Amino acid sequence: MEHKDIDWSNLDFSYRKTNKRYVANYKNGAWDEGALVEDDTITMSECAGVLQYAQTVFEGLKAYTTEDGRIVTFRPDLNAERLEASAKRLEMPVFPKDRFIEAVSEVVSANKEFVPPYGSGATLYIRPYMFGISPVIGVSPAEDYQFRVFSTPVGPYFKGGAKPITIKVSDFDRAAPCGTGNIKAGLNYAMSLHAIVTAHNEGYDENMYLDPGTRTKVEETGGANFLFVTKDNKIVTPKSDSILPSITRRSLVYVAKEYLGLEVTERPVYLSEVGDFAECGLCGTAAVISPVGKIVDHGKEICMASGMEAMGPVTKKLYDTLTGIQMGRIDAPEGWIHEIEC
Ligand code: PLP
Ligand code: COI
Repeated sequence: MEHKDIDWSNLDFSYRKTNKRYVANYKNGAWDEGALVEDDTITMSECAGVLQYAQTVFEGLKAYTTEDGRIVTFRPDLNAERLEASAKRLEMPVFPKDRFIEAVSEVVSANKEFVPPYGSGATLYIRPYMFGISPVIGVSPAEDYQFRVFSTPVGPYFKGGAKPITIKVSDFDRAAPCGTGNIKAGLNYAMSLHAIVTAHNEGYDENMYLDPGTRTKVEETGGANFLFVTKDNKIVTPKSDSILPSITRRSLVYVAKEYLGLEVTERPVYLSEVGDFAECGLCGTAAVISPVGKIVDHGKEICMASGMEAMGPVTKKLYDTLTGIQMGRIDAPEGWIHEIEC
């Protein structure tokens, strides 16, 4: 297959337009049949629900080229299920799971020359999303919706790839108790923009958000869940109702237990105990597992034992096993790998 002439190994995490995207419209209470289109622009009412009251939800997953040259996606069924949960929370219609998986597959297939080659370090990032498109002026859900899927080739989310990053404990909250932190709604990310710009201006790579109720427990970052490793090689990951149920984190928990024989505990994690861990990683589709070397809490530096030079050994094993499964080097659990027919 012909690949696009792209410097795959030097891609960063930014948008690059690809050939085709999928569009389906919800009108009069039903989804139309949907289609791939070339037009990457959207025309809508100035009063569309998404523009006035941020009625939009999204997903993120990746397509990979495997060692033996197949193109696959990773657990797209879980993205479909999470989009359903997000849509219901914002009073939006559900896009059926089988159609979601089909739309993702069609988009990858239509853009196959943008799927980075095996071993390049890059992947095709896929962004399914849905938004209220009809006019809304009183606060209420829209009547009509659009579901779209586009794709873009990407490199590492954090510059420097596997180099440990430094994050700060944010003074801002990302989510509210009983709010929308557990769904993938655009509004959660709008909430984090001022915090991330502030963190970047101060020289940090990311924010650690604390639980909005007591501000004593670790929640997540703007785009990834936390995973900690204890000094005796056990995995601990924060349990909270206001964080996104990361598909990567749930997969890593399985990999840790079933592939690596590690003990895993999901429990509240207090900021005060973070310095006791040996390793810290951020896990997500975009982040994969990005090692954290230092956490700064209002000037107090919490340095992870794994240091600032390289990923800690347990994080590295998790990373190698997960990416090995995604790239076809390691046998996957039943149903995790969805092959795209190109
Ligand atoms: N937490 C937040 C806030 C995110 O935006 C993401 C990214 O999707 C994640 C966690 C990781 O989730 P996943 O592993 O499903 O990509
Ligand atoms: C993802 O990992 O897919 C996300 O949506 C996170 C975002 C910060 C890019």
